[in-house]
Amino acid sequence: MTPPIRTVCVVGSGGREHALAVALGRTADVVVTPGNPGIAGVTPEGHTLSSVDVPAESIDADLFVIGPEVPLVDGLADRLRGSGRLVLGPGADGARLEGSKGFMKAVLAESGVPTARFAVFSEIQPARTYLQSLPGPWVVKTDGLAAGKGVLVTESLAEAEADLEAKLSGRAFGPAGRRVVVEEGLTGPECSLLVLCDGERLVPLAPAQDAKRLGDGDRGPNTGGMGAYSPVPFVPDDEVGTLADNVVAPLVATLRRRGIDYRGVLYAGLMLTAEGPRVLEFNVRFGDPEAQVVLARIEGDVAGLLGEAAAGSLDRLPSYGQRAAVCVVLAADGYPAAPRTGDVIHGLDIAARLDHVSVFHSGTAAIEGKVVTAGGRVLSVTALGDTVAEARARAYAGVEALSWPGMQVRTDIALPMSGGDRAPGVRGGPAGVGSLRSPGTSRATGWVGVPAR
Ligand code: AMP
Ligand code: GLY
Repeated sequence: MTPPIRTVCVVGSGGREHALAVALGRTADVVVTPGNPGIAGVTPEGHTLSSVDVPAESIDADLFVIGPEVPLVDGLADRLRGSGRLVLGPGADGARLEGSKGFMKAVLAESGVPTARFAVFSEIQPARTYLQSLPGPWVVKTDGLAAGKGVLVTESLAEAEADLEAKLSGRAFGPAGRRVVVEEGLTGPECSLLVLCDGERLVPLAPAQDAKRLGDGDRGPNTGGMGAYSPVPFVPDDEVGTLADNVVAPLVATLRRRGIDYRGVLYAGLMLTAEGPRVLEFNVRFGDPEAQVVLARIEGDVAGLLGEAAAGSLDRLPSYGQRAAVCVVLAADGYPAAPRTGDVIHGLDIAARLDHVSVFHSGTAAIEGKVVTAGGRVLSVTALGDTVAEARARAYAGVEALSWPGMQVRTDIALPMSGGDRAPGVRGGPAGVGSLRSPGTSRATGWVGVPAR
């Protein structure tokens, strides 16, 4: 039995946590730590949202939801559970999936989940020999956390070798890079599949696609994510059950065999290759900005759903309206290399008045009554519509209202060709965004059993 969830504490300060607060605030009072200036006030349903910068351990709430990976890897969920709290988020044992890419790849291999060919190294010479044995493109990843910046994908063997040296020497990423995963480069469209896990049962949520590169047409450096949309044309909502069966359920079975009781979100980063779906990574939390679009699409009691996953008693299914969501991220000047902070943001009041549009704060601060930029990704403008095209138009109307010096924004989020919506070999794709199927009766609302192996 899950206790009633009347109050929720969300840990984090970004757009994902703001979106969580709003979704949870339909049925519960929400306090976010440390939160941000956008998280304040009363929801349309009459629940309070607030931000307080105190340790999560000192907060009293019926449910704790931990947003970012760093506190999860550091064992915050264990500490909270140790003092009797109900927590959505894995303990440090499960969070190792994201804390060590080498560990994640080992678990994938043990589970028989399809992934890129790989090997793990701490020494330069064997790593170089392995790299040279692979056909390009080449991929070099830090084993440890690197805020989404530790992955190099390149067509140049020389660049891959130089990157290997920079990582293994500790120069590029410190201790996080002293172990690396070297893997074959795959090609195909990408898709993020977020799955709720209660330790035993899985509920896949609607798929989303995020735009990782800074520039239009997927050019420029990798970022934390410049936008997202859901549903995606090449993985209709009603196929996520099959996908979760193939790529998530075997992994959870392995975790259980290893004695890991995983209660939280499993985020599979998938590439849909000509040979079928391949897992690029598992994250142990909601994606940002994927959470903004996926949570916006779920109707009803999100607090109850997350509470059941945390309590090990998942017994309800998310329901979706006939809706699509698009999120456009606005980033600071200089992002991702060296974001400038302190620029005053204009237009928040105008954007707040737009129907179907929510402006989530990702990296802002309130100084002398003004809201200013305080991080790389600053705002995530999220809109709902009956179709992706309608949601997209509304999101960009929100973007039009907002400005500050040097603001960066992609203009092609959720356009049919952005992110490459060609998915050879994947049932249902390729398809244009215009031909999206309705998610109404979707297998996204079905159970996935974890094989007891
Ligand atoms: P990761 O943090 O492992 O998801 O990697 C970040 C991004 O790098 C992914 O979203 C992909 O765009 C790209 N990437 C990672 N692994 C591969 C791979 N094996 N082949 C091609 N691209 C990859
Ligand atoms: N949007 C990518 C991530 O959350 O890791």
